[in-house]
Amino acid sequence: MRTILVTGGCGFIGSHTCLVLLEKGYRIIIVDSLINSSEEIINAIKSNVKVPSFTEDNLIFRRGDIRDKLFLENVFKEERRRNMPINLVIHFAALKAVNESVQNPIEYWNNNVLGTINLIEVMSKNDCFKFVFSSSATIYKPMLNKQICEDSEIGPINPYGNTKLAIEKFLSDLFRSNSNKWKIVSLRYFNPVGAHNSGNLGENPKGIPNNLFPILLKVALKKQDYLRVFGNDWPTKDGTCVRDYIHVMDLAEAHVSALNYLNETKPNIIGINIGTGTGQSILEIIETFKKVNNCDLPFKFIDRRPGDAPYVVANNSLALKTIKWIPSRNLEDMCRDSWNYAKKQNTIMHKI
Ligand code: NAD
Ligand code: UD1
Repeated sequence: MRTILVTGGCGFIGSHTCLVLLEKGYRIIIVDSLINSSEEIINAIKSNVKVPSFTEDNLIFRRGDIRDKLFLENVFKEERRRNMPINLVIHFAALKAVNESVQNPIEYWNNNVLGTINLIEVMSKNDCFKFVFSSSATIYKPMLNKQICEDSEIGPINPYGNTKLAIEKFLSDLFRSNSNKWKIVSLRYFNPVGAHNSGNLGENPKGIPNNLFPILLKVALKKQDYLRVFGNDWPTKDGTCVRDYIHVMDLAEAHVSALNYLNETKPNIIGINIGTGTGQSILEIIETFKKVNNCDLPFKFIDRRPGDAPYVVANNSLALKTIKWIPSRNLEDMCRDSWNYAKKQNTIMHKI
């Protein structure tokens, strides 16, 4: 059985990916400090695995911080001792709140960049050279009404984005230092939303949410009076910002495709956009959410948010071609599944 280390596996994207990996028969070690998640997720993942071959030993949780090298060394050592060495790492663990990164760049660079360097160092010592990195569309410079390709201009505009770009550059240097060993895929996610259709896994960040969907769900749950839409005078189809929203289960499946690719390819490094290739405006999201879920979603237009871009949409043809991944869920699925999750978790969702 193939053992994979998943850092940040209790988080939003990590938890959905772990579920998909377990259903594909992988054995998983989750390392998470729980700085933005909780241990209950482990049981939620386990209870949703629907394959009869699944046993408790297929999912192991080790609470710890990836900046703690000794702890990481022990995780690798323990699996070698069991004769099930870790031979691939999917690296989700990171801090991701843009505002927070502006206020506290030290913490962001320390956690995201130092954490990744530590992890790579321990992997290398343990002869583990396959790596899937959670990168972001935020590394690109936005272009008006033009899809973003992998070779589009780079230009993050906040410390969070800078940490993602710094890690990608570090990974390139690493690959060049030993180009017949490392196999590295950086998946550049666009806007992940939605939830597992059981309603047991979803996005429930600690602290004050900044992203559209967690806020929109609070409004639908009547925990916030209205959604503040940042600007209606953008040069887009209806004046509101356009993004490439992607269902988190499609994104989870992209990781399985990336693993298959890494297992087959020769040593290589590649950055791949993971988006649907289509853009939706905020007004389209609001309308679809209301229609699909038959609920109210009050909103008010306010000023533009500093740092926002009008149009961020992926050209996803490299993903389709290289890792042979195709997203299959649409905006209605994203709205339906996220609302199902929010209703089910209503009592435990963190208050703002
Ligand atoms: P999340 O906060 O839900 O999950 C991240 C997990 O990592 C959390 O469980 C957190 O506790 C853990 N973690 C953070 N720092 C850690 C550390 N030093 N050691 C161990 N565990 C640590 O975030 P997410 O939305 O699931 O994002 C996963 C990854 O995808 C991140 O790297 C993020 O930057 C990237 N990403 C997310 C988005 C998005 O919109 N959600 C978009 C692009 C890229
Ligand atoms: C933001 C970050 C980006 C990060 C991504 C995922 C900024 C400028 N960019 O991207 O670096 O990779 O999150 O974490 O913060 N919106 C509203 N009202 C709200 C919230 C959002 O109208 O209350 C709008 C925004 O203007 C945007 C869209 O909804 O047009 C999506 O916003 P958000 O979820 O924050 O994602 P991004 O802005 O794409």
